[in-house]
Amino acid sequence: MSEHVSEALFELRGVSQSYIKRVAAFLDTVDFTLHRGDTCAIVGASGSGKSTLLNILGLLERPVAGRVGFAGQDVMTASADALARWRNRQMGFIFQAFNLLPRLSALDNVGLPLLYRHQSRSVARELALQKLDEVGLADRAGHFPADLSGGQRQRVAIARALVGQPSLILADEPTGNLDQACANDILELLLDLNRQQQVTLVMVTHDTGLAARFARRVEVVDGHLRECGEHVAA
Ligand SMILES: Nc1ncnc2c1ncn2[C@@H]1O[C@H](COP(=O)(O)OP(=O)(O)OP(=O)(O)O)[C@@H](O)[C@H]1O
Ligand SMILES: [Mg+2]
Repeated sequence: MSEHVSEALFELRGVSQSYIKRVAAFLDTVDFTLHRGDTCAIVGASGSGKSTLLNILGLLERPVAGRVGFAGQDVMTASADALARWRNRQMGFIFQAFNLLPRLSALDNVGLPLLYRHQSRSVARELALQKLDEVGLADRAGHFPADLSGGQRQRVAIARALVGQPSLILADEPTGNLDQACANDILELLLDLNRQQQVTLVMVTHDTGLAARFARRVEVVDGHLRECGEHVAA
C-alpha cells in the first residue's frame, strides 16, 4: 500500500489558462504537485492568477490546456457531477468576503453544506453547533451575520467549510478583510486544523508574514509558479 500521507493530492502538468480576448495566457504551462497534509501559501501580484489557480484546484474551472489530477482522478475528463461531488465531500472553501447568507443564523449557515448532502435538519444543526464550538462561537449560534464582527463572520465561514469533514481547505485571502490580530487568529485556527487533523491547507494571501508560516510558498509570476525558499517561521 502506498503511504497516504505523501500521496499527491493535486498533480498539475502543463496547465495553461487564458480567457477570451486575452492574447497571452496568464497561467502558462504550469506544473504543480501538492501532497496530502501540506500547507501551501500562494502569493503574487494582483492579477497574476492566484485566484484562478485556486479555482482550478477547487475544481471550479478547467484550464484551457494541460492535465489536472485530483486524488488520482483525471479532472479534465470527469463529469460535472463527479466534480461537484468531490468538491462537496472533500473540500472546504473560505473567501475574503466570508460569503455567508445574510438571512440565515450562524448555525444555519454552518449547517447548510450538510443539507446539500441530504442530511436531516437535526443532524445538520447538531454538527454545525459542534463546529461553531470548535471555532469558539457556540454562544453566537443564533446570531445573524450582520450582528457579528468580521473576525467572527470568518470563523463562521471556517466552521461552514469544516462541517463536512473535508480533507482540504482552499482559502482565497481569508484574512483580507480583517485586522492583523484577527488575521493571525484565523491563521492559527487553520494551521491547527492542519496539525491536528492533517487537513491540507492552500491559501492565497498578500501578507508575506502570514505566508511565511506555511511549509510551502509558491509565487505566481509572469504566468509561472516559483517556489519561494524554505520555511522560516517556527
Ligand atoms: N472570468 C474571467 N474572464 C476574463 N478574465 C478573467 C476572468 N477571471 C480572471 N480574469 C483575468 O485573469 C487574470 C488573473 O486573475 P486572478 O483573479 O486569478 O488574479 P489574482 O492574482 O487573484 O488577483 P488579485 O490579487 O487582485 O485577487 C486577471 O488579469 C483577470 O483580469
Ligand atoms: Mg484573487
